[in-house]
Amino acid sequence: MCLIGKSAVRLWQRLVITGTLAVMASAVARADTTGTLSVDLSKPGADIPEHFFGLMTEEINHAYDGGLYAELIQNRSFQDPVRNTNSLPVHWSLVGSGKVTTDRSDPVNSALPVSLRLDLSGDSAGVANDGYWGIPVRPDTTYTATFFAKAGGGFAGPVTAFLQSEDGATVFASAGTPQIANGWRKYTLNLKTDHSAPATASARFVLSASGTGRIWFSLVSLFPPTYQHAPNGLRPDLMQLMSELKPKFIRLPGGNYAEGSRFADRFNWKQMIGPIDTRPGHMGCWGYRSSDGFGLPEYLLWCKQLGAEPVLAVFAGYVLNGDHFNAGSQEMAIYTQEALDEIEYISGPAQSKWGKRRAADGFSEPFPLHYVEIGNEDWFDRSGSYDGRFTQMARAIRERYPRLKIIATAPVSSFKPDMYDDHFYRGAHQLMQMATLYDKPSGPAAPLTFNGGGWNGRQPDGIKTFVGEWAAQEGRPTPNLNSALGDAAFVMGLEKNSDAVLMECYAPLLVNVSAADPGKGYPKAMQWNTNLIGYDALRCFGSVSYYAQVMLAQNKGDAVLQAHLQGIATAATADGRVLFATATLSKSDKTVLVKVVNFGDAAADLEIRLEGQAHIEPTGTAIVLAGDPSWVNTADEPLRVAPQQEAIANAGASFHRSFSPHSLTILRLKVSTP
Ligand code: AHR
Repeated sequence: MCLIGKSAVRLWQRLVITGTLAVMASAVARADTTGTLSVDLSKPGADIPEHFFGLMTEEINHAYDGGLYAELIQNRSFQDPVRNTNSLPVHWSLVGSGKVTTDRSDPVNSALPVSLRLDLSGDSAGVANDGYWGIPVRPDTTYTATFFAKAGGGFAGPVTAFLQSEDGATVFASAGTPQIANGWRKYTLNLKTDHSAPATASARFVLSASGTGRIWFSLVSLFPPTYQHAPNGLRPDLMQLMSELKPKFIRLPGGNYAEGSRFADRFNWKQMIGPIDTRPGHMGCWGYRSSDGFGLPEYLLWCKQLGAEPVLAVFAGYVLNGDHFNAGSQEMAIYTQEALDEIEYISGPAQSKWGKRRAADGFSEPFPLHYVEIGNEDWFDRSGSYDGRFTQMARAIRERYPRLKIIATAPVSSFKPDMYDDHFYRGAHQLMQMATLYDKPSGPAAPLTFNGGGWNGRQPDGIKTFVGEWAAQEGRPTPNLNSALGDAAFVMGLEKNSDAVLMECYAPLLVNVSAADPGKGYPKAMQWNTNLIGYDALRCFGSVSYYAQVMLAQNKGDAVLQAHLQGIATAATADGRVLFATATLSKSDKTVLVKVVNFGDAAADLEIRLEGQAHIEPTGTAIVLAGDPSWVNTADEPLRVAPQQEAIANAGASFHRSFSPHSLTILRLKVSTP
């Protein structure tokens, strides 16, 4: 069970329901900064798109293998590149007195070219896998093991599967096959732990047999219960955390992973559909191999289970080592067709060629698809080929799917995109300053320039913006509170400008925080320093920024309200901006959502004025995230900084409130209308 998702968020919900008054730091902090925040209820502005909040995702930091994809066996097809010193595939070892070797003769199929051969020598012997930084064992849990096996050299016995302690001294669960046949066959076993089993990741998975002869194994897999019990499914605790973010889209696959380091390792979606034993896997761009058990159908499963739409990124003929094909080339024709087929796989009817394949993968209903992104960060392509590549693909997509909105990742001139995808990784304070980036200029607009992954403001000519990657970069492996505040202000600024910025998603989303363990062949699991949600084999936790974003996502509202800060003493930050405030309106339940970030070192005392209605007597709730700006949540101490709630009763149309230093506050004010 997840350490945070249920406990903290549920606690927070309970506090709203009972109206319990939490003791807030803001109530006692000294107010050095005073001013007025006026919110005009009479003229609701732009509608905030329903699909404003989303998730960005790629295979980085063991986000899928060793993360969201619930598979527990690392290197299940024995093809991971790093070798053990004993010449066995990495993460595999011999148990007992036999001999283990890899064998490329007579594979199960071409997607599984390597099998593991176990030669028995009379006694009991087996092969053991140590998982992704351990195999998580929990009490009263049923695990499903599947593997291909064949017998030879006279072996005619069963194979027994064990979940056991790392030293083999304690067995947590076991199950046996019938007699292994001489040809390849798939075996499925259920292993059930009992009530007394510990919750531990210090465990291994073993397949063993006794007697003489040989056994070959291929595609050895072990799944715990998955989210909503989906086959080949997802880790429940992480899904629970993500569901609290209420994502309405998933950018898939985002980032460098969509491109790949070399053409041979590009995101080749056609190799990532169908049964897992037909997926060969590929070398990812972040230093480790991807099993591709988490492929395109699993992205769709993720969308379906979270109620989110895919925002599809298609491979666009450029890879990270700089190789690319120009528009008009034979290869670009192939990639363009692949993109059209991918769109059909996701959104086409079940009778269409690729829709049929999706239905065979378990999704008879087409998925809604409104946005297709061509490439990723193509501004890295210094050859200038993107304009041509983009235009070739955009024209083909527009012709076949005229209603799809097309997203460009770098400046283009030959085809007008519907959106640009801007990316920003910045310091915490810098990101807070960028909260006004997309504001409508009060005077003549500054010339638009593109720099370091994003534009310097809102687009002209009806082109919209998707902020498809962004994050403040303080705190490792997850953001500290300072970052969370920069992040919060930035998102509030995007939301305020959601007539121009239609969607946003933080990156990277997931990080396996496990440390390096060279003795077992484990490098450190993460590649990126600052990430939203952390976990190891057994536990998961939301970062402080995760909580800030749960607050914002759960209090979005549907229209922007004008909010003006005045009379604020300037002191604590370099640009003089200590506070940032916005407001939105939830029309259905007549709730005004006032959102305030205090980035400064002193409390801020504000008079909140709700203007534009005759009788306003707000009651409601204040949700506050506040604390030491350097605090980083961890798996061991995840609850140190989590939002708190308090009730607000009959505050009137104008009331005072103190905002703690280093805080994000959302006031949910129920207003009575005249
Ligand atoms: O989010 C991490 C990386 O940052 C992404 O893969 C890439 O698009 C960006 O440069």
